[in-house]
Amino acid sequence: MRKLIFAVALAASLIAGPLTAAPIVIKFSHVVAENTPKGQMANKFKDLIAERLGDKVVVEVYPNSQLFGDNKVLQAMLLGDVQMAAPSLSKFESFTRKLQLYDLPFLFKDMEAVERFQNSAAGQELLNSLKKKGLVGLGYIHNGLKQLSSSQPIRVPADASGLKFRIMTSDVLAAQFEAVKATPLKKPFSEVFTLLQTRAIDGQENTWSNIYSKKFFEVQPYITESNHGLLDYMVVTSTEFWMDLPDALRPEVKKALDDAIIFGNQVAAQKAIDDRQRIADSGRSKIATLSPEERAQWVEVMKPVWQQFEHEIGKELIDAAYNANNM
Ligand code: LMR
Repeated sequence: MRKLIFAVALAASLIAGPLTAAPIVIKFSHVVAENTPKGQMANKFKDLIAERLGDKVVVEVYPNSQLFGDNKVLQAMLLGDVQMAAPSLSKFESFTRKLQLYDLPFLFKDMEAVERFQNSAAGQELLNSLKKKGLVGLGYIHNGLKQLSSSQPIRVPADASGLKFRIMTSDVLAAQFEAVKATPLKKPFSEVFTLLQTRAIDGQENTWSNIYSKKFFEVQPYITESNHGLLDYMVVTSTEFWMDLPDALRPEVKKALDDAIIFGNQVAAQKAIDDRQRIADSGRSKIATLSPEERAQWVEVMKPVWQQFEHEIGKELIDAAYNANNM
């Protein structure tokens, strides 16, 4: 009898075995270090999925441009080679012009204003701006406001004149540096440290957490606390992958991502303070804070960039974002 039960169980397992579905794999590719808001968010997402969806879904996180740089990742996503990424909002230019909004210099006075706008109907609608290109925006994640790092002291726009700055692939950012008569160079994030170290470029713009985690402060003796622009991200996936997910799983994956984003945003707020302090404490880079008069000079020369891009972004959208400052 025992033998019979064993034989039946064995036969059943042989039949059932091949039918057991393999877990769905979500490859999440990003370019920053793990100890950053985006890096922490991606790892949290992986952990939440493991906890909540067990063997149904597995998230694999590839940090530090290990799998793809931001210049390749969206094409790779459309080909199904990666399922999720969170490029900076500056890196969607070849997919939509609308997101250029977020690159306009001095648009948001602080991260609370950014949060208000992103949660508004207009901000949420922008998550759909990649639809026609086969991508779905699943949510925003913050990094923070950008600072200028450089090989020489910069306080006013004239100090930046003639210098070469690395920028992300954004025409708005190019126009922003051209406005101060500097030369912008579009380069991948993975190349920035070497470009700075070898003095092939004079400076770059980034958040405190990126300047710290990628050690830019070790090769840039000056940082201007300009808070002149925003570096935030959109978590994206392909429409095809998203719609192919079983209906029962999709909301659960989305919920895990939403929870990971809340966590990542807390990390972002804390890192903007802590990583700034770590850089200051290192003594490697001197941080200049701007007087209201100095800041006003930057606003005056950079703000005309808004008009240059108004026809592509839309005046209404720019007004909606700007009005989030005064709520
Ligand atoms: C950059 O290229 O400077 C940033 O987009 C990197 C990042 O993802 O924060």
